[in-house]
Amino acid sequence: MTDLLKLDNNIVIAPMAGYSDVGFRSICCDFGSGATFTEMLSAQAMLYGNKKTQDMTFRYPTEKCVIAQIFGNDPIVMARAVGNPILDGFEGIDINMGCPAPKVVKNGEGSALLKNLPLAGRIIQACKKEAGMRPLSVKVRLGFNENNITEIAKMCEESGADFITVHGRTTKQMFAGEVDYDSIAKAKQSVSIPVFGNGNVTDKHSYEKMLSTGVDGIMIGRGVVGKPWLIADLLDKPYVISPIEAIKKHVEILRKYYPEQWIVLFMRKHFIAYASAFKGGAKSKIALSTSQSIDESLNILQELYNHFEI
Ligand SMILES: Cc1cc2nc3c(=O)[nH]c(=O)nc-3n(C[C@H](O)[C@H](O)[C@H](O)COP(=O)(O)O)c2cc1C
Repeated sequence: MTDLLKLDNNIVIAPMAGYSDVGFRSICCDFGSGATFTEMLSAQAMLYGNKKTQDMTFRYPTEKCVIAQIFGNDPIVMARAVGNPILDGFEGIDINMGCPAPKVVKNGEGSALLKNLPLAGRIIQACKKEAGMRPLSVKVRLGFNENNITEIAKMCEESGADFITVHGRTTKQMFAGEVDYDSIAKAKQSVSIPVFGNGNVTDKHSYEKMLSTGVDGIMIGRGVVGKPWLIADLLDKPYVISPIEAIKKHVEILRKYYPEQWIVLFMRKHFIAYASAFKGGAKSKIALSTSQSIDESLNILQELYNHFEI
């Protein structure tokens, strides 16, 4: 790992807008993740003190290593976000150069920066200057339309990134199609900074396949949604908390930061994902998607836990 970022192990949890909340990150940490990422934070919104963005920077005291991810298209605005005191407590800063969402790309942000490597390089340099002792990383895809990952990885290294994460798809591929392991291996071979591999790691087999590319670490996204205990399974570690206790803890942590009615709506997708982890969980999805109370949803999940295998 980089000299700046010491991790307990090589599994990190991906930034996922709408999912990487403080409660979810905390239980991922309990199941042993080396680090987690916040969901992407708009550098522009931070400049204006946007409350919704500030609310995404809550951090629970027992979270060990959390990296704040920012997105934007202007080196000055991005550097100011890095220097914003609300990011002071985070162990690292990550720049989003992988988001394919049309509303982000049309602003020249996220993976659109892969079409303008000189600008991407200036953003990394400006952020690195402001990051101080915190490691500065970049999350990229293989390219925008075409695969030019070697050029992208070298640009990140030359501009001062301390490590990179490579999602093994181009922007054009969005989230579908095969992950290109050979290109992730090429990215690793082309630079001397650490490289994390990302894409479709959902079990031991895919974890080992990603490791076989030679990467220094692995970033997991969708594979842990509804199933954060996968982290302990992959690391061959015992669970320090049972799955049902973890689900309850997820909610309890959110209750420290957000109003109950917001949590009821916000947690629906997480609850449905948790139900999917149980063999008989599919039947409960409708009840969970219309539930008006957290206690009602937790009772449904407790019943699943009592009667079905994970
Ligand atoms: C719902 C959702 C939200 C995401 N939000 C972000 C984000 O905020 N920043 C980012 O860099 N990537 C984001 N991603 C991409 C993931 O970090 C990851 O690169 C992608 O899902 C592939 O990894 P996986 O196959 O392990 O899920 C998101 C993905 C999903 C499914």
